[in-house]
Amino acid sequence: MRAVVLRRYGGPEELVVEEVPDPVPGPGQVVVEVEVAGITFVETQVRADRGPWRPELPLVLGNGVAGRVTSVGEGVAAALEGTRVVSALGGRGGYAELAVASAGDLIPIPAGLPDEVAVALLADGRTAVALTRAAAPRPGEWVLVEAAGGGVGSLLVQLAREAGARVVGAAGSAAKRDLAASLGAELTVDYTDPGWTDVVRAETGGLDVVFDGVGGEIGAAAQGLLKDGGRLSAHGMAGGPMTTPDPRVTAVAWQPPDLREASVRALELAVAGRLRPTIGARFPLESAAAAHAAIDARAVTGKTLLTPVRRRSGPAAPTGA
Ligand SMILES: NC(=O)c1ccc[n+]([C@@H]2O[C@H](COP(=O)([O-])OP(=O)(O)OC[C@H]3O[C@@H](n4cnc5c(N)ncnc54)[C@H](OP(=O)(O)O)[C@@H]3O)[C@@H](O)[C@H]2O)c1
Repeated sequence: MRAVVLRRYGGPEELVVEEVPDPVPGPGQVVVEVEVAGITFVETQVRADRGPWRPELPLVLGNGVAGRVTSVGEGVAAALEGTRVVSALGGRGGYAELAVASAGDLIPIPAGLPDEVAVALLADGRTAVALTRAAAPRPGEWVLVEAAGGGVGSLLVQLAREAGARVVGAAGSAAKRDLAASLGAELTVDYTDPGWTDVVRAETGGLDVVFDGVGGEIGAAAQGLLKDGGRLSAHGMAGGPMTTPDPRVTAVAWQPPDLREASVRALELAVAGRLRPTIGARFPLESAAAAHAAIDARAVTGKTLLTPVRRRSGPAAPTGA
């Protein structure tokens, strides 16, 4: 099979497609023929060696796939073969034509839900569901979502809105602000504009909740907009170090975790038409480097996906949602 192998930490060009042996499922495992693989921002940080993670190389990145089960290992019901599933992979192996998953991690894809929606919601959906549960926005409260046009952010906007909160979508481009507005953000701001905090303060009078997926200066500035006792979810460092909650605010974090249950919940919300991911770009497997380059450049709105399936020859360039 073909897989995208990372042999050296560095730029997107380090992601190279290689021919590697087909994986064989061990006890309790299955092999999935990957129709769609998700790319998360964190994977770009791992690739670039920006952050605390340093997995041993060579490595096939990719933690979420959707597709059909093609073979099962010892102790796994043969009836699973042919089932459409979405699955986390324990942090590796998704950027490939075939991926190994633990049978216990498989989630059957609900009828009518496209594979790419399922995979777009697997990680980002569970994160957004779990963080929304933790921060528990209430009707009428002001909630600021950073990276509001990104994978997790675009889902947080919808979930906060559904809880009845008033949402500020903060992002770094007009396209991402537009997306946040289309998903229910009442106010949008560009945090690359100096003075964005003044706008938020004037319009809201202070925030009740901040979903900080960016950290660094932006996270610190957003924290400063919280009312005393406001809730801060510091869950990312896309733009700098993770924000340290100050004593004035209440830090919230997702509870350890039934991650699978939170993913299942996200899929249920999608089936019910209450949550929808935005697929910003799709790339064939051989363009994984271009996909990472687009994310590095902050050029993609919403979720970026790989479409590895062998029989397919995908487009050479990203396509719109
Ligand atoms: N995906 C998950 O399940 C998960 C789980 C736990 C934590 N997180 C964290 O949550 C955050 C969002 O994750 P995501 O996967 O949905 O990513 P994403 O939001 O799709 O992409 C990250 C976004 O961060 C923003 N950003 C701000 N400053 C940046 C900078 N200096 N360099 C690059 N990007 C910058 C960019 O949006 P703008 O251009 O609009 O600024 C970028 O699109 C990340 O920090 C991630 O580590 C994600």
